[in-house]
Amino acid sequence: MSQEELLKEIEAFSASSAEELEAFRLKFLGKKGLIKDLSATIKDVEPSERKAFGQRLNQLKTAVQEKIDVLKDAMSSNEQAGGPGVDPTRPSGEEELGSEHPVSMVRREIEAIFQRIGFSIAEGPEIEDDWHNFSALNFPEEHPARDMQDTFFIEKNPDMALRTHTSSVQVRVMESQKPPIRIIAPGRVYRNEAISSRSHCIFHQVEGLYIDKGVSFADMKQTIEYFAKAFFGKTKIRLRPSYFPFTEPSAEVDVYWGLENETDYRITKGTGWLEIMGCGMVDPNVLKASGIDPDVYSGFAFGMGIERIAMNRFGIGDIRMLFENDIRFLKQMKGAW
Ligand code: DAH
Repeated sequence: MSQEELLKEIEAFSASSAEELEAFRLKFLGKKGLIKDLSATIKDVEPSERKAFGQRLNQLKTAVQEKIDVLKDAMSSNEQAGGPGVDPTRPSGEEELGSEHPVSMVRREIEAIFQRIGFSIAEGPEIEDDWHNFSALNFPEEHPARDMQDTFFIEKNPDMALRTHTSSVQVRVMESQKPPIRIIAPGRVYRNEAISSRSHCIFHQVEGLYIDKGVSFADMKQTIEYFAKAFFGKTKIRLRPSYFPFTEPSAEVDVYWGLENETDYRITKGTGWLEIMGCGMVDPNVLKASGIDPDVYSGFAFGMGIERIAMNRFGIGDIRMLFENDIRFLKQMKGAW
């Protein structure tokens, strides 16, 4: 490299850190630097040329030193102004980490509990057709849940609606998989309801489904007992006869919550029992509609609302709190699990 080229390189150099600047200094002025190396070659230079050679070396040395001084100056004044990359218009103070939403915490915990006993997670579309949301689930044509008041239909295609429950995923799974089937389907559902402290038109459910040869009502009860113990730490449940079009027989599940304090009285309405889910043996009509032979297979299903469980778990009195995403509320939930 000629002296001219070296001078150009020095001129063009810039550093964004003290380390880079030091590397530059060592490259030229260090003990094993370029200038030392060049100085050592002076003995090979024609004696008449040695003076000029020495001057050129000095020019290089000065250029390097000047460059270093300029860059050092620039760095220290930049540091005083807050350093490179610091935006002085940014609000001061520490950045706060967000927290997980209570609905997500509960969903994840429910998923983990069922995954431990061999259930896997299934999903389905939120915009669903009449078949998967109603017909295949044995809803009669004139069932009130199909009514315009409960269901958000899609205006352009009355066969499509926002799913009113995650039971629709049962049908999709049975249509596409062979038993044994063990799934839970968490997800968002929609109902055309007036919003109040206890109801909201968007909420979340977890559906469960277990299909195999010889699955009994006792298997269902044990599975739910296991869940109640794992999730609530409660060992006593009861099943009350109920009705759902897609299960026969059907039941409503209550967990014994206790009556130890005022909150227990409030959330159990003084009974000590808390309703946690609906369940039942999958109706043979549903198995048939989904392509599974009811003479060979049987199974159970259950469904629960995540918000309701989160409200009990965290002592939240108004379901709307879970949808407003008020930072002050979410902060209180941080680490509340
Ligand atoms: N789909 C029901 C609902 O939205 C919940 C439910 C009840 C699901 C009983 C089930 C079941 O699978 O067996 O209210």
